[in-house]
Amino acid sequence: MQTEIGTDLEKVAELLQWGQIVAIPTESVYGLAANALDQEAVIKVFQAKERPFFDPLIIHTHSIEKMKKWVTEVPEVALKLAKKFSPGPITFVLPKKKVIPNLVTSGLPTVAVRIPNHPLTLELLRKLDYPLAAPSANLFGYVSPTSVAHVLDQLGGKIPYVLDGGPCKVGIESTIISFTDEKPVVLRVGGISIEDIEKIAGSVEVNLHSSSNPAAPGQLDSHYKPCKKVILVPEGAEVNQEEPGKTGVIAFRKEWESVPKANQQILSAKGNLAEAARNIFAALRLLDREGIEIMYAEELPEEGLGRAINDRLRRAASKR
Ligand code: TXA
Ligand code: MG
Repeated sequence: MQTEIGTDLEKVAELLQWGQIVAIPTESVYGLAANALDQEAVIKVFQAKERPFFDPLIIHTHSIEKMKKWVTEVPEVALKLAKKFSPGPITFVLPKKKVIPNLVTSGLPTVAVRIPNHPLTLELLRKLDYPLAAPSANLFGYVSPTSVAHVLDQLGGKIPYVLDGGPCKVGIESTIISFTDEKPVVLRVGGISIEDIEKIAGSVEVNLHSSSNPAAPGQLDSHYKPCKKVILVPEGAEVNQEEPGKTGVIAFRKEWESVPKANQQILSAKGNLAEAARNIFAALRLLDREGIEIMYAEELPEEGLGRAINDRLRRAASKR
């Protein structure tokens, strides 16, 4: 199949209408989208990503009003958060309406829903009378795509169209927050920091994870896997190398002296966590190449977006 790249929203809407799947830009990462109400189209998403059916999808819509169409209720605190941060990188897990297929939610009684903050995708969503189910547009378990080139690397030839929205401005996935318990529970740290959420919602619980956490079945410990081995180290802790030429380094602010420059990615020379978030997935992809045998990644400060970046690095580093 030939994969077309462009900004033709009419064409994308038509493809979706016919049950095709299309890559779409968001502020967080690129998504692989299908009409969420069309089960055959949703199956194509799982197949193209080689994703297991037990890992539920996020649905995307363009307004809080539309969100209410797909869930049975939006608690007050969720509404406050949505008014503050949507459109934006925050996803709400809420009780689903029957119209959302069980296939989308992997049989869960809840659905994850978000309003992405990208002008092209918002315009597309406004044209549609159904939500778009869209996981990140990468093969299951690999690093999420933050550019059209990343999408094509893994899905080129497998999908008919990539809607070109340029590089992603946030660069890590949305924060997922569930409202099924009395207290909101963060299931995935992401583009909106916990500190910012707590300013609006009061204190929240954080239950990230994992293969053992049935509430977020897709959050496997070993997600975000590059092919190469990743080892986490404290910032600035240059590890002695026997073969520096085969070592990759993802440093937060400063290059390592012992490793060739070409093998290093600096996330933010200024120490800016938002800039580091924009760069992290591209850095992992760039160093996941021939000639590099091992990657060292510096841990970032465990605050704000640093938490979400560290989470991705830990999963990338965890054993298969
Ligand atoms: O930023 C994002 O959220 C991107 C863009 C494309 O919107 N999407 C994304 O989707 O990261 P994905 O499929 O790669 O990750 C979604 C995760 C799933 O792995 C699962 O853990 C969680 O969302 N999830 C989905 N539905 C859920 C539900 N009903 N309850 C708990 N967790 C859910
Ligand atoms: Mg993903």
